[in-house]
Amino acid sequence: MITERIREYLDYLDPGNRRYLEELRREAEEGEVPIIRRDSERFLRALLAGLRPLRVLELGTAVGYSALVMAEELPPSAHITTVENYAPRIARAKENLARYGVGRITLIEGDAFQVLREQPDESYDFLFLDAAKGQYVKWLPELLRVLSPGGTLLSDNVLQGGDTAESRFVIDRRDRTIHSRMRAYLEQLSRTEGIRTSILPIGDGLAFSVKV
Ligand SMILES: C[S@@+](CC[C@H](N)C(=O)[O-])C[C@H]1O[C@@H](n2cnc3c(N)ncnc32)[C@H](O)[C@@H]1O
Repeated sequence: MITERIREYLDYLDPGNRRYLEELRREAEEGEVPIIRRDSERFLRALLAGLRPLRVLELGTAVGYSALVMAEELPPSAHITTVENYAPRIARAKENLARYGVGRITLIEGDAFQVLREQPDESYDFLFLDAAKGQYVKWLPELLRVLSPGGTLLSDNVLQGGDTAESRFVIDRRDRTIHSRMRAYLEQLSRTEGIRTSILPIGDGLAFSVKV
């Protein structure tokens, strides 16, 4: 997507984070917990700083890193709900959110789709979708239902290291299901009436969608 030279330059421009977040990032990387990439984080921060949404839903908490990033950018009256279903990460996320979350992040333990279906219509201004990548297309109608008009849906990892753009015949057989589902997701995001989408080659690919 971008050259090594550009990557190094962008890393050089990155001002870094407060110490607790840098420690959480290092810990996540050492423990092979997948968290938002640095360049995607920069975009997420800039987006939230401009939009200032008050009701945020994140699907895929991991250990709470991106929820804490988002909390730093939101107005004091904003609230973040974040969902995770993997017990070892839930335990770590609870510790991190209790320690650094200043009380405006609610962690729901459970399956993201189930939780999504329980949310009222138009109850969120901003959705950060960062959970089971193969499920995005199935979840889309519910994502659009819970999003308020003018609200933003940011979906991470949509380019799958470039695989999404490739023909299925060059994709490893075991990755073909996620490949076809992600392509279907991006086609729906791009062609569904009532949403505007731009696919950004930032990090592992971000789909930036607005419900009009
Ligand atoms: C990429 S990680 C999230 C990273 C996090 N947003 C961050 O940047 O700090 C994706 C997480 O989604 C969780 N997950 C996957 N499928 C899920 C589901 N159906 N319901 C809830 N969580 C799920 C995984 O256990 C994993 O921790």
